[in-house]
Amino acid sequence: MNPLLALRPWETPEVTSWGRLPMNAVDRRSGALPLDGDWRFQLLSTPDAPVGGAWSSSYVPGVWTMQGTDDLPQYTNVRMPFPEFPPHSPPANPTGVYEREVDVPADWAGRRIVLQVGAAESVLLVQVDGRPVGISKDSHLAAEFELTGLVRAGARATVRLTVVKWSDASHIEDQDQWWHGGITRSVLLYATDPLHLADVTVRAGYGGDLRVDCRVRDAGGALPEGWYLTGELDGQPLAQDAEFDRANVDDERVSDFLGEARLLATVAEVRTWNAETPELYDLTVRLHRADGTVADTSRHRVGFRDVEIVGRDLLVNGERVFIRGVNRHDFHPLTGRTVSYDDLRADLVLLKRFGFNAIRTSHYPGDPALYDLADELGFYVVDEADIESHDHAHEIADDPRYLNAFVDRVSRMVLRDKNHPSVIIWSLGNESDYGANHDAAAGWVRRHDPTRPIQYEGAAKLDWAATDDASDIACPMYAPIEDCVAHALSGEQTRPLIQCEYSHAMGNSNGTLADHWAAIEATPGLQGGFIWEFWDHGILQRVSDGRPVGRGGAGLYDNGVAAPGYRWAYGGDFGETIHDGAFIADGVVFPDRTPKPAMYEHREIAAPVRIEAYRHEGIVLTNHQHFRGFDWLTAVWELSLADGRTLTAPAELPELCPGETAAVPLPFALPEDGGEAWLTLRVTTAQDLPWAPRGTEVCVPQVRLRGPATVQVAPVDRRVEVDGEGLLVHPLLAVAPTLSLWRAPTDNDELGGMAGHWRSWGLDALVRKVVSVREDSGRVSVEAEYAGTTGVVRHRQVLTPVEGGVRVDEEAELPEAFDDVARVGTVFETVAGLDLLEWFGQGPWESYPDRSAGAPVGHHSVPVDELFTPYLRPQESGGRHGVRRFTLSAPDATGLSVALDTPRQVSVTRYRAEDLAAADHHDELVPRPGCVVHLDAAHRGLGTASCGPDTSPSYLVAPGIHRWSWTLRVL
Ligand code: GAL
Ligand code: MG
Repeated sequence: MNPLLALRPWETPEVTSWGRLPMNAVDRRSGALPLDGDWRFQLLSTPDAPVGGAWSSSYVPGVWTMQGTDDLPQYTNVRMPFPEFPPHSPPANPTGVYEREVDVPADWAGRRIVLQVGAAESVLLVQVDGRPVGISKDSHLAAEFELTGLVRAGARATVRLTVVKWSDASHIEDQDQWWHGGITRSVLLYATDPLHLADVTVRAGYGGDLRVDCRVRDAGGALPEGWYLTGELDGQPLAQDAEFDRANVDDERVSDFLGEARLLATVAEVRTWNAETPELYDLTVRLHRADGTVADTSRHRVGFRDVEIVGRDLLVNGERVFIRGVNRHDFHPLTGRTVSYDDLRADLVLLKRFGFNAIRTSHYPGDPALYDLADELGFYVVDEADIESHDHAHEIADDPRYLNAFVDRVSRMVLRDKNHPSVIIWSLGNESDYGANHDAAAGWVRRHDPTRPIQYEGAAKLDWAATDDASDIACPMYAPIEDCVAHALSGEQTRPLIQCEYSHAMGNSNGTLADHWAAIEATPGLQGGFIWEFWDHGILQRVSDGRPVGRGGAGLYDNGVAAPGYRWAYGGDFGETIHDGAFIADGVVFPDRTPKPAMYEHREIAAPVRIEAYRHEGIVLTNHQHFRGFDWLTAVWELSLADGRTLTAPAELPELCPGETAAVPLPFALPEDGGEAWLTLRVTTAQDLPWAPRGTEVCVPQVRLRGPATVQVAPVDRRVEVDGEGLLVHPLLAVAPTLSLWRAPTDNDELGGMAGHWRSWGLDALVRKVVSVREDSGRVSVEAEYAGTTGVVRHRQVLTPVEGGVRVDEEAELPEAFDDVARVGTVFETVAGLDLLEWFGQGPWESYPDRSAGAPVGHHSVPVDELFTPYLRPQESGGRHGVRRFTLSAPDATGLSVALDTPRQVSVTRYRAEDLAAADHHDELVPRPGCVVHLDAAHRGLGTASCGPDTSPSYLVAPGIHRWSWTLRVL
């Protein structure tokens, strides 16, 4: 029996580790012996079940829940997946036993040998050759164990890692995500000199001052005479801090076992670090033996920057920076939780390309590589400790049995990540109420690292204006923007207000993002926030047997969609009875990292270049960055005219400092004819950047130069054909135009309660009854009633023959009872074969009334099958805002055109709203042969009501009379 089990460490919160080495910031990845790969594996039903069954194998790093065992992923948000109260775990407690042989290199003789386990969830027990070595908890930080004396250089040792899935720690790892079990980050073995660098603490300020504090630990015995430390920064030697040495000599507390030294430098004309220009210097610290040879080396990348709070502003290098953040979990559709360096890099590169400059590591520390990449690519990071006790938050926050765990988790994160310039704020965790355990952790951080602010939503939410809690920042989640503005204007604000979560990206969402940012930018005291969240955590699942596909599934998805026979699984899809459904699919990217249309909205809101048009000055450009000019950008002017022309001209971006504006002459003589005219500045990267090749689009700011001209269409002498029900008969229409008040509920519509109203009003199945059909010299006027269960809508359609087609004038009168419908408009279906949509309006990506700031007006062309956005749970999708006219055509250019009276919301997809509403997953949808076309007089905003505020009142569809008209022609 494994002696480590005797303590029942999985039900003992006071035990956070045993035999584990202290955390530090010395990176041991290079030169280590990697132990990743296939390990022997057994899954026990409880931690104390005997090992002895058949071994299979499991890939490390990886979770067994995604590798063919019967213990499958389970998704819960708040509630724990088992009923036991903290600190208890359920009797059925899957426990993975991993084992492998390790050949310890012969040239490690005489060296200190350390095993590092990158992360294991939730309790890790380590044995070597059957002997107990150590215990560790915290599923998202590495644990190190010294093996010197237990293993021999040149010999083979057997390492066994036992991972217990459920424990006291699960109660403080109750984050809203899939539950898994396994080893999720790399395992390695490394060797150092017995006398080694135990830790290095770097402080590098905006003014160019560098201070490097080094600690040397001896494996036994005093620091030998003559050993010393040196450092160099980009090849330049650092100076020893003689005063520090002198003080140390006199200080009786200085131990023989711990050598300390301080190295200093002042860098003249320092290139400072910020998220826009993440300048880094290479620091090397060396520990020398008395003869000058190097015993140990530690490498760091140093960014010179300051972060401070002054009044109610968070300043980076003295600048009040906007925080354009996102919450990022560790996720991958094939591995569940394990992310490779390439995956991390791809995440961050994508975020850069879409204008994000900040990441909150929701809700636990990321892989060390995440911070290296954030330093290098330029992100402000809120580093969050692995503490979320959501289901039992109140009990745990003050439970002394968990005190150690709180301080342990926060302090180890700080000890590991303190040297990263990207980390600007420490977060004590998420959704764990507020108690003494938080204050203890905050106290530790304030003493250990006074250079960074702390935040904790649970503390600050009690009173945004408080000054005596564990948060230096008011960091609410999903606060209505009006409340934030009111607080900033109240005169009561005491600290920065940066939302730790806002704009919930579940399904078709992120409505009013632009309104949020308009308010943030206009209101001193508001600085931004972190969108919830980056990923849709859909796991790639084989439909036939319901199993996760696992590591071999690359290539089984594309463009956000799983291949036939596969789907993106969400809560409940693995047969779990306790789960929270599609709430796990709430990111701005699909499970394969395909950006959702909301990303383009964000990109435009974050645009570094803004343009405005003034009658006299011409075009005014603004540099909307904090630290740099436009030299990394290049641009082209584009003029889109309603008559179909798009003119282009090279643009010269003026030299502007951050915040400056300049007027530039209008790049085009505006043609007299051509109608409505829009000027767009297409801004791209001027050179290859670490996150974007040259020519990558950065933003497309736009201004209107001329409004639309009214076009009169004269009636012609012809008959419009209708059937006995007064429905238009047309050779290109498979289903005649009727009234629609409903959309397939979005996740926001469902969770916000709107969809329930719509169903109870009967809007999803209106019954049409024709009241009268009158014909008057070719023009047909049809009165109809559309009955729901609680009200009747009067609808009139007047069909007038015009040159080349028919004009349709419509009017609908909604009863007061229908005071918040999804849309008022027309729906029809075309015949098959019209597969290309070309339009003049906003695009090319999907846009909605409250999410349309990022879709410029222009001439767009997209195949019908690519218009639809495959949100994980099928819902309203594919809309385009501000459409003036469009054509739907076959390859031989035959087809139809529609001209709208005024810019309107239009969608063209293969699905009727009821098709979408009836499906739970994308693979259940059966496309219709023709196109389903919606032309909306009014369309409800999307809002974010699945978690947070609904859309603003101005984007609601009011009851009463709506009028709209459109002209249908054959091409
Ligand atoms: C927050 C929470 C997140 C997530 C989100 C909803 O309350 O911090 O972890 O659950 O809501 O998706
Ligand atoms: Mg939660």
